[in-house]
Amino acid sequence: MAELQEVQIMEEKPLLPGQTPEAAKEAELAARILLDQGQTHSVETPYGSVTFTVYGTPKPKRPAILTYHDVGLNYKSCFQPLFQFGDMQEIIQNFVRVHVDAPGMQEGAPVFPLGYQYPSLDQLADMIPCILQYLNFSTIIGFGVGAGAYILSRYALNHPDTVEGLVLINIDPNAKGWMDWAAHKLTGLTSSLSEMILGHLFSQEELSGNSEFIQKYRNIISHAPNLENIELYWNSYNNRRDLNIERGSDNTLKCPVMLVVGDQAPHEEAVVECNSKLDPTQTSFLKMADSGGQPQLTQPGKLTEAFKYFLQGMGYMASSCMTRLSRSRTASLTSAASIDGNRSRSRTMSQSSESGTLPSGTPGHTMEVSC
Ligand code: BEZ
Repeated sequence: MAELQEVQIMEEKPLLPGQTPEAAKEAELAARILLDQGQTHSVETPYGSVTFTVYGTPKPKRPAILTYHDVGLNYKSCFQPLFQFGDMQEIIQNFVRVHVDAPGMQEGAPVFPLGYQYPSLDQLADMIPCILQYLNFSTIIGFGVGAGAYILSRYALNHPDTVEGLVLINIDPNAKGWMDWAAHKLTGLTSSLSEMILGHLFSQEELSGNSEFIQKYRNIISHAPNLENIELYWNSYNNRRDLNIERGSDNTLKCPVMLVVGDQAPHEEAVVECNSKLDPTQTSFLKMADSGGQPQLTQPGKLTEAFKYFLQGMGYMASSCMTRLSRSRTASLTSAASIDGNRSRSRTMSQSSESGTLPSGTPGHTMEVSC
């Protein structure tokens, strides 16, 4: 019997008269994104398929803003309130946004079969190049929360030349120690999976207050049709390796970083420690008062403002683009001593903007935003 051969059939698109194959490819890629006002794509990677949603029109020589959400959430439940916030539009109109959903977290995702080997956080980071290649982006500004912040940091350590900046909310760069494991196991005996994840996302004060906001997220997570998938992402997060970042070593983040944490957040200590390990000339530390565990959900206005300063520090948003709101609200940003004890390098956002020199988001200082 004749052997059957698998033949890959490629769609042939005729070139326009005078069009080089390179120009045709570029036009096709541009069209792929231009049509994508919130369109979801999936690409195959060595670790399975990954889904992402693209918003915005590409601007030449601009990185994409690539987001990665935390455990228990997806790109919408983690980022929609921030990216749809009024003042944010001024910023994001200048960038394409690529919102990644961790495998099995996208809306309508089928539950993975029993025994499915979920990727480790390192493998999730290794999926990102496939996304960037598909969209033809060579650089990104990463925006991650919790597990997503870890994944983007791992990606940045592996591909430093492709990351222009990182916003890391609630990052814990350390692997769980045996004490953490013991506590985790004990909690697991008395709490459901959804309560453990809520304890990771929100402060104890928020959870016991049980506001409508918390009830909404409790409901989303405990009734998630893909709760089994969420457990797999949760397990990968809890089994993460140490990022082993050391100030001054080769293994450190080379790009500007904005670290963000709520002052009551469960990960405050971890973020403070992370700040102490990063290059102080490249790092801004934003500790937000009264913002609970998820500042991008509870304080989108303040985070938008800080993000704008951060981008200005990277040279992406001219001061003339600043809204009246951004300028006037610097008055409400109060100074704080640097958390790592280095008072001398601590500067406030308002001092810098009043001096009218560098954009006040220039990395290398601590900000405490009060309400
Ligand atoms: C965005 O414009 O980037 C966006 C819109 C809706 C949800 C999340 C992000």
